[in-house]
Amino acid sequence: MQYKILTVSSANMDLNMRVKDAPVKGQTVFGRDYCYVPGGKGANSAVAVAKLGGSSYFCASLGNDSNGKALLNFYKSLSVRTDYISFSSDRPTGLATVTVEDDGANRITVFSGANLSLSPVIAADAFGKACPDAVLCHFEIPFETVTHLSRLCYEAGVPMFIDAGPADKNINLRALSPVCVFSPNETETEIFTGISPDTEKNCVAAVNKLKSMVAAKYYVIKLGKRGAAVSDGTSLELFPAYCVPVKDTTAAGDSFTAALTLEYVRSGSIEKACRFGNAVAAVTVSRTGAGESVPTDAELNKFLTERNIKF
Ligand code: ATP
Ligand code: RIB
Repeated sequence: MQYKILTVSSANMDLNMRVKDAPVKGQTVFGRDYCYVPGGKGANSAVAVAKLGGSSYFCASLGNDSNGKALLNFYKSLSVRTDYISFSSDRPTGLATVTVEDDGANRITVFSGANLSLSPVIAADAFGKACPDAVLCHFEIPFETVTHLSRLCYEAGVPMFIDAGPADKNINLRALSPVCVFSPNETETEIFTGISPDTEKNCVAAVNKLKSMVAAKYYVIKLGKRGAAVSDGTSLELFPAYCVPVKDTTAAGDSFTAALTLEYVRSGSIEKACRFGNAVAAVTVSRTGAGESVPTDAELNKFLTERNIKF
């Protein structure tokens, strides 16, 4: 059975530039090479769901411009369902500058543009028509759209997965209805809770703080090369990352959360979903680019077979 995942989220064109070391404040450095690639946290996740064999419905807002047209064609080429993509009449397609250092670490600045036009009404319409098995959101669209969807999902009994990036301490997480999974990365965890999840003890403390802000069945903290920590609010388990040569970590979190969502809906096991997320994200970080770096089902199976990984 092909499960239907509705991603209601952002779409950007990424200007990806490789540098030895990213500039510090006031400094100018030379980039080595650059390219424009499809990005945006939501789009990267929607592409991941499609590549991994899910039925991927993407609700996003693009600008009426050449970047918008190029992104739409890219999604269609990967069988992402684009029925719920709308075009803003007054805002350009979102743009991100992604500076990638030699060790694969990135620094990202986003110009939201048309992503700000993704209103609660547009999202509710997509939700009503798509009848999804799960909904996936990030915080790159208006927060009221995410809170509205959380209420619709809660009332309809549809599991909602929130990838909590980018974080802003002014976001009122308490406005969210209970969700299935709430998943920040390390910096997002620190921004929301004031606690850096650098040790297992601090992960537990951060989850306890998150619990007081947003009700979730599971809290999944993405820990970069350390993997991910999963808690049901009472106990916490660490799932180590797979060791790979790292080229570019862009979209690591987006592909992780998309894979976790798909696998959780398929198997009902958060542990299996987390291992699957780690494997998908490991392949993603070993390649350059954003959505394009996410593996297909076949590429992932090759990675798992070569390493004799079983879930
Ligand atoms: P991004 O914003 O770049 O998309 P993120 O900061 O949201 O990513 P991370 O915590 O950096 O998310 O990474 C998400 C997942 O990617 C991790 O939980 C892990 O599974 C995988 N990952 C990240 N870095 C590495 C690495 N160096 N080696 C192997 N896996 C990694
Ligand atoms: O998570 C990576 C993504 O963040 C990039 O593709 C960029 O567009 C920003 O949304």
